[in-house]
This record gives sequence, C-alpha cells and structure tokens, in this order.
Amino acid sequence: MSLFSFLKSNNEVSNPQTIETKEVESYLNQRVRHYLPSYLLSLDDEPFQPSQRLIDIGLEASKKAFSINLEPVSKAFYPELQTYINTYPGEHYKLLAALMEVIKPKIVLEIGTYQGAGCMAMKSTLPEGSKIYTYDIIPFDQIPNCGLKASDFDEKMEQRIVDLADPKMAESQMDILENVDFIFADAAKDGVMERAFIALFDRVKFKNKPIIMFDDIRFTIMTPIWRDIKHPKLDISSFGHWSGTGLVEWI
Ligand SMILES: C[S@@+](CC[C@H](N)C(=O)[O-])C[C@H]1O[C@@H](n2cnc3c(N)ncnc32)[C@H](O)[C@@H]1O
Repeated sequence: MSLFSFLKSNNEVSNPQTIETKEVESYLNQRVRHYLPSYLLSLDDEPFQPSQRLIDIGLEASKKAFSINLEPVSKAFYPELQTYINTYPGEHYKLLAALMEVIKPKIVLEIGTYQGAGCMAMKSTLPEGSKIYTYDIIPFDQIPNCGLKASDFDEKMEQRIVDLADPKMAESQMDILENVDFIFADAAKDGVMERAFIALFDRVKFKNKPIIMFDDIRFTIMTPIWRDIKHPKLDISSFGHWSGTGLVEWI
C-alpha cells in the first residue's frame, strides 16, 4: 500500500503534498527499520552536473554490483553487519567492490576504517598490484566488534592512524593523496569534518582525476556539504547506501 493510500484509508489526508511530519512518522514507525528526515533538491540549477566519465562509471558499477558475491567477505563480521554487507541496493558494500572492478584503481584511500566492512569489500575485488590505504584515528584492534585481523593487512592493504581532517597531519600523506585513484570518504559526518576533507582534496595536486565516493550525502547535515561540492558529481543513492551515496570526479 502506498503512503498516500495508507493515509487516505485512515482518513488522515487528501493531498500527499500536505502530509504532516507526524503522519509520515506514524506510517514509517510501522514499516521501516530505520529512517531519517532528508531534503529533495532540484538538479536543473545545480552547476556541477555529472561528467560523462562519472555517468559511465556509475552505470557500470551499479549494474556489476548485482553480480558481486560478498558472502565469503561478510563471514568475518557479526550477524547484523553480515546482513548489511550482503544487502544491495540499500547498502554500499557491493557497489564499492564493483567500483574496484570498473575503475581498476592502483591506489585506494578510505577515510574511516572502523570495523573494516568497507575496506574488506574493496579488497575482495582489488586488482593485483593495487593497494588500499585505510585511515582512522583509532586502530582497528581497539574498535569493538571489528571484523579485521592483523593478517588482513598485507601488500594489498595498510591501516594508517592519521587524522586527515588536520591539515598538518594530512600534509604528511601527500605522496599517497597525489597518486590516489579512488577515495571512500566515510568518517564522522558531523558537518565539519567533511568540509575539512573537501578543503584537503582541493589542495592536493591529484595526478589521476580520482573518483571520490561520499557516504551519507542525504543526511540533513550533509545536504549543504554535498550541494557545495564544486566538481562533477552524481547522486547514486538508489544504487548505493539508503542514507545517500555520492560520486565525484575530482577535476
Ligand atoms: C562510519 S565509520 C567508517 C565505516 C567504514 N568505512 C565501513 O565501511 O565499515 C567512521 C570512522 O571514521 C573514523 N574517523 C573519524 N574521524 C576521522 C578522521 N579525521 N580521519 C580518519 N578517520 C576518522 C572513526 O574513528 C570511525 O571509525
């Protein structure tokens, strides 16, 4: 039953554009595990439209993601996270794995290792000879319920404990940043940190026109940050994370 029919059957509303928040919440409370308010934005007046490369990558990776099997990867994680890792669309893990196959990056950077689901999904399809640098401010072995083991870190993956929101600390990572092909920006989403990362990306003299994936772009706190990005960009939330997935070509 659609939201409109549901509310109509309850004699609560006659026009869906005038639905009150409490009425929407009453519907969502009964049917959705987790929901958050968000905004709808027009795109005709967005000056930073997606480039053809971004459209091609987005379409190819979204399609490929449906054939990716992350069951073996997910076994290292606790049951709830296993479910998320294998959910597609709605979660971004299969999309991350597909993006490795489509972009074939030599150097990948993740901001925010946490329990390791994102980096392990990417590692599962990373081309031979490539490497993931996953950054956090907390070492993986101090994260509760972490799915990572010391042996997961090898010639294909390294964790660095560096605060990339701190310009001085970020400066020490320029050799990696300048050569990166793909970045997964998945840190605090506090309205401040992502702006620091964006300022950092604008300072880096990237050599390879990296693709940068931002998580949670439909959080209200991320809405102005996403809208302010002045590079070709594509919202692919329907083929990524339900909380919002954005791809940017940093040129
Ligand atoms: C949402 S979690 C990352 C989830 C992970 N990417 C995944 O896919 O499972 C956010 C992580 O960002 C880390 N973090 C917060 N601020 C950071 C910073 N300035 N630099 C690097 N990592 C940061 C947090 O410690 C936390 O572990």
